[in-house]
Amino acid sequence: MTHRKKLIAGNWKMNKTSADAAALVRELTAAAGQRTDVEVVVCPPFTAMEGVSRLLDGSNVRLGAQNLHPEKNGAFTGEISADMLRALFVSHVILGHSERRTLFGEQDAFINQKVLAALKNQLRPIFCVGETLVERESGATLTVVQTQLEAGLAGVSREQAADVIVAYEPVWAIGTGKVATTEQAQEVHAFIRTLLTKLFSEPVAQKIRILYGGSMKPANAPELLAQPDIDGGLIGGASLEARSFLELVTAAAVK
Ligand code: PGA
Repeated sequence: MTHRKKLIAGNWKMNKTSADAAALVRELTAAAGQRTDVEVVVCPPFTAMEGVSRLLDGSNVRLGAQNLHPEKNGAFTGEISADMLRALFVSHVILGHSERRTLFGEQDAFINQKVLAALKNQLRPIFCVGETLVERESGATLTVVQTQLEAGLAGVSREQAADVIVAYEPVWAIGTGKVATTEQAQEVHAFIRTLLTKLFSEPVAQKIRILYGGSMKPANAPELLAQPDIDGGLIGGASLEARSFLELVTAAAVK
């Protein structure tokens, strides 16, 4: 089996002014800025991005965005393009997050355009999939995940696929304190890897990181991260404080 370096990404959502963001990033880089055993990514809001980018210069912590618009530029009020992100040394971008899907009506086809635009511009998508509680309870989890995954990654080439990071985030576990059990998470992660094998080949699927997201915390992370197909975490609440986020980074480093 290929060794996949674990990745811990903080999704700050709509939290932190640029001053707050700078304070948090200073703490993170002081403690984990030179780590090479875990890949660490922070995804601040757009307004904090430039300042954070400057503070990350010289550290191994990478900068991610929470969204992008697939067009290069033009009349898209309120939107941000891949070019604009690249100019700030952004390397990753969260796409298809369930909050974008449910609160802002983003659908698979549009998310797919974003994934393709990100890859074309050397940004690594952190592409999110996951079922709602109703879908899980009706036994539709794997079908929902399959539909989102296949639609979101349509047209991605085998070469590009190795740059994709998938995040499995059961919607019912996000921000609710309800974490998927280790077995529930591993089952879906293994299923996603099987789908990736069919789409892109076994060697490519073995390289792709599949993150878990949804109330991941220092207390539940070690068990989740010990699963064979859980390659890291996409962290919301616990990424807003240096202490809990750094504990997650440490948990990911344990072999
Ligand atoms: P949470 O959010 O860790 O607060 O559940 C995860 C996410 O939405 O990415």
